[in-house]
Amino acid sequence: MKADKINKQYWANIESKEILSGQYFPEELIKLLAKGSYVLDVGCGDGKVSEYLYKNKYLVTGIDIKVNALEENRKRNSDITYIKADITEKLSFADSFFDAVVIPYVFVSIIDSKMAKKAAEELIRVLKNGGILWICEATYSKDYEERYKTGKEMTGLNNVAISVFKDGKNKGKVKRFIRHYSNKELDTLFQPLNKLSQKQVNLISPSSGMKVETIVSVYGKV
Ligand SMILES: C[S@@+](CC[C@H](N)C(=O)[O-])C[C@H]1O[C@@H](n2cnc3c(N)ncnc32)[C@H](O)[C@@H]1O
Repeated sequence: MKADKINKQYWANIESKEILSGQYFPEELIKLLAKGSYVLDVGCGDGKVSEYLYKNKYLVTGIDIKVNALEENRKRNSDITYIKADITEKLSFADSFFDAVVIPYVFVSIIDSKMAKKAAEELIRVLKNGGILWICEATYSKDYEERYKTGKEMTGLNNVAISVFKDGKNKGKVKRFIRHYSNKELDTLFQPLNKLSQKQVNLISPSSGMKVETIVSVYGKV
């Protein structure tokens, strides 16, 4: 879908400091996972979540499509492995490699449903049996209803919002697409796994001041 192409360009081109990172950390995982476990941080951005996991004594690999952020992250902490990878494509890791996979605010940028399914399957593939998948995602918010209308016109999908450039030469053009998955959609994406817990937390976006209603789900692979 064209929307996914636009999103990938958006993430590749913005300054690392513009990544809205570290809004919520995988605290539910820390309670469940033994120290020294191998953890994959998906869409690690500027590394805040990877560094949180590292401080909690895990062996961390962070992946992202944003090469400049990965380079900056490596300079700050060479104990964390940072690799360029796109979760909508095949990952280079062996089956069942990781004890845990964390995915904070990444599916929000994956618009095409088939692509999201493929990405979920790939993340489940690299998780070992007995492993834990932790995901937090922005979900439907009443505050976005006006923006969902344009998203529906452009993509045919519900709960997809558009963000546009406010100034500069691209003023008015689409900056990026934002997909708000429901808890049911997330459960379906990760269906082969067992749901261990799910809760909603309401945060405020540091950039727009808008509510970010977030679902935090923990799944286990049998
Ligand atoms: C909203 S930021 C979240 C950063 C970090 N996970 C956090 O919560 O602190 C989304 C991140 O996902 C990355 N991303 C988007 N699409 C991706 C994809 N297809 N594969 C890998 N990373 C992706 C972006 O480059 C960006 O760093």
